[in-house]
Amino acid sequence: MKINRRDAVVGMTSALMLPKAIAHTPNTAFANEVFAHGVASGDPAADSVVLWTRVSGQEGEVPVSWSVATDPEMSNTIARGVAMTSAIGDYTVKVVPQGLPAGQTLYYRFEVAGAASPVGRTRTLPTGRLDQLVIAVVSCSNFPFGRFNGYQAIANDPDVDVVVHLGDYIYEYSENGYGAEAGRRLGRIHEPRHELVTLADDRQRHAQYKADQGSLAMHAMHPLIPTWDDHESTNNPWSGGAQNHQEDEGAWPDRRSVSLRAYYEWMPVREPGVGEPPEQRRAHFRFGDLASLYMVETRHMARAEQIDYSKHESALETPESAAEFYDTVVGADDRRMISKSDAAFLRNGLAASVAEGQPWRILANQIILARVESPSLDDPAFNDAVTIQDDYAQRFYDGLSVLGELGLPFNMDAWDGYPAARERLYGMLSEVGARDLLAVTGDTHMFWQNRLVDAAGQPAGLELGTSGITSPSGFRGFGETAAARLDALIATHNDGVDWADGSKRGFIRLTLERDRARADFVALSTIETRNFKTRVVRSVDIARRDGTLEYV
Ligand SMILES: [Fe+2]
Repeated sequence: MKINRRDAVVGMTSALMLPKAIAHTPNTAFANEVFAHGVASGDPAADSVVLWTRVSGQEGEVPVSWSVATDPEMSNTIARGVAMTSAIGDYTVKVVPQGLPAGQTLYYRFEVAGAASPVGRTRTLPTGRLDQLVIAVVSCSNFPFGRFNGYQAIANDPDVDVVVHLGDYIYEYSENGYGAEAGRRLGRIHEPRHELVTLADDRQRHAQYKADQGSLAMHAMHPLIPTWDDHESTNNPWSGGAQNHQEDEGAWPDRRSVSLRAYYEWMPVREPGVGEPPEQRRAHFRFGDLASLYMVETRHMARAEQIDYSKHESALETPESAAEFYDTVVGADDRRMISKSDAAFLRNGLAASVAEGQPWRILANQIILARVESPSLDDPAFNDAVTIQDDYAQRFYDGLSVLGELGLPFNMDAWDGYPAARERLYGMLSEVGARDLLAVTGDTHMFWQNRLVDAAGQPAGLELGTSGITSPSGFRGFGETAAARLDALIATHNDGVDWADGSKRGFIRLTLERDRARADFVALSTIETRNFKTRVVRSVDIARRDGTLEYV
């Protein structure tokens, strides 16, 4: 529901006042059942933030009271109201109180049918002078692979200002799909047990993920800024279909549509604006005079179909023919990644940030932006260690062997599969004076420290890639030692890759200050038990020099 600014600050009109009898109900086992999926907040602005919950065990039209306070005891209430929910929205509740104070830690709570939710903590965006911002960067939280201990670690860190999730917040696979073996071992089997196709399927899966202990803790503690990548709908979609969508699963637009409906229901995100399609999720977040963070959509609005090398074998016989294929077919000008309107949105936002003099411009980017060619696998330290673990690993190994000899990139679902679109992005950065972009990227289940360089060799910024919260690196099918060696070979072979590490699960803790930023790559000791430790496995400082960014 939307309320006007004045009401939000001074309290709602009498018709929407909280009944006194339920205003301070202590939490009980009943309340834990009603609010089994916790509370969450997200998409913060300077004067508003999305507050979310879900009420279980309810029927019909349900009034849910909400309140926002400046203290965790909820005594100094500054906004409150009542939102209605029902089966139409799967009993999820989303409210966006307006007129909140900027740059402030706030607390919120929901109440229904005599039960009070846990108190959530959130933060509005600051305005004016800001000297430090701490962002936790996460991606790829696959339930069967393990506990969301990375989320728990972030919940335990009160200095985090906001969590940026770069996608694969849920996975669509069945109990026998990706992660099945770990899921059975850990008792984390996907619900429903089949692959997600219908609205009911998507809702059930979101509910399962939201009930994870780490997820409950992180969402109650910090606001979320999520982008979606592929698995929120299904593996590797593009604007007209998806790798993991088959004809017997119905029409792709229908499946995509229900997955997005469940996403908007279950995530603490703003709804599309009037006249905007649900497939378009883009945003610009301003953190005072220090930083802007942008997201644009890279799956459903404009993306051309991924190139499948196996359908072009005749063009890939020599390094020369492969290079020509990459330039002309993969590099075709009309192979878009983002829509024209998203490109204009990003351009305007970057230009505004440059004009304001903000030192940092961050792209919340789903898939790796830097160029990453396959290295030659003809390396004894790699080959002697390889132990192929399954058919998938064998096919991956065979593919990499060929691509390594041809000097081609291997991740055609990433920006490497859309080099013309990438050059357009870099060209746009030049036009607005923003070749100091800091991209934060998910998808690969590996840590990356990359440099962005255009086709002419000119720097365009830096890229920090985060590993998965639970999903493992694809190289692990070669055995741990070989996988680590391959990470090193990739960094050696590619000018733009300073470091890559797929051996750890974790997240990035990014601290921005006026003159310098620091990225801490944080690894988790385990995702199999609730007891875990974190360890910073690499720390790198970033500074600006000559209009771009450098690792120092
Ligand atoms: Fe993923």
